Amino acid sequence: TDRYAVVGNPIAHSKSPRIHAMFAEQTGADLVYTSVLGEVGRFAETAEAFRAAGGRGLNVTVPFKQDAWVYADRLSDRGELAGAVNTLSFTAQGIIGDNTDGVGLVRDLEVNHGCTLAGRRILLLGAGGAARGVLQPLLLAGPGAVTIANRTFDRAAELAIRFGGFGYITASTYHELAGEHFDVVINATAAGLDDSVPPLPDTVLADNAWCYDLMYADQPTAFVRWARAHGAGHALDGLGMLVEQAAESFFIWRGVRPDTASVMQALRAAR
Ligand code: ATR
Repeated sequence: TDRYAVVGNPIAHSKSPRIHAMFAEQTGADLVYTSVLGEVGRFAETAEAFRAAGGRGLNVTVPFKQDAWVYADRLSDRGELAGAVNTLSFTAQGIIGDNTDGVGLVRDLEVNHGCTLAGRRILLLGAGGAARGVLQPLLLAGPGAVTIANRTFDRAAELAIRFGGFGYITASTYHELAGEHFDVVINATAAGLDDSVPPLPDTVLADNAWCYDLMYADQPTAFVRWARAHGAGHALDGLGMLVEQAAESFFIWRGVRPDTASVMQALRAAR
C-alpha cells in the first residue's frame, strides 16, 4: 500500500483525502491518502518524517507551498515559475516538486465548462502566490491578452515582467480598469476570506463574460455573488479546479488519469 497525504494548516476541512480516495477506488490503486497538520515554520521536518516513514508523495496547501518549493530537490518548469509547489513526489531520483494548480484551473474552465481561453481578454485579480501559481498554464492557453490587477501595483508589475515571455501581459491598478472590458475574470485575491471583493469598476465584464473564483466554499463566494450581480454569463467557484489539480497530482504519482466528473458530482451532492 502506497502512502500519500496533504499537508496544510489548517487541514481538518480539506477535501483532498476524499477526492484521492475516490480516484484510488476508480482506478484500483492500492494507496492510502491522509491529511497532516503541518506546523508553521517546520514544513521540511514534517515532509521528511512522512518520507522517512515510506511516504510516496505529498500535496501541499496553505501556507506551505513556498516552503515546499524550497524543499524540493528538483522542480518542473511550471513549479519553478510558480514559485510554489503543491505536489511533491518522493522518488529514487530525489524529491520532485510540481505545481498542478494552473493546469487544474485551465482544465476546469476549458474541458469541464467549455470556456475557450484562446484569443480572450483575461483579467487576473491579485498578484500573490495564488496568482503566480496559475499564470504560466493560463498564458500557454493562448489568450489574446492578460491584465493583472492588484491593490499593490508593483507586485502586478513584477509578475507581468516575470511571465512576459509566455504571452501579452500587462499590469494595472483597479482604478485604471475603468472603461476596459474582459471576457474572463479570475479572482486570485485573498479578499474573499473577509467575504469581500476587489474594487472593480461595475462595467468591467464583457457580454457573456466568465468569472472564476479560485476560492470555493459551501455557499457562493463573495466574488461569485458579485459576478452574478454584474451580469456574468458564467460564475464559477474553485471546486472544479480543486478536483482537477488533484487529478493532475494523481497522474504525476500513478501515471493514470482518473475521471473527474463523477468526483465533482459526488462533492457537489455533499455540499
Ligand atoms: P495568496 O497566496 O492567497 O495569493 P498572498 O500572496 O498574500 O496570498 O496574496 C494575496 C493577494 O490578495 C494579493 O494580491 C493581495 O493584494 P496586495 O498584493 O495588494 O496585498 C490581495 N488581497 C488581499 N486582500 C485583498 C482585498 N481586501 N482587496 C483586494 N485585494 C486583496
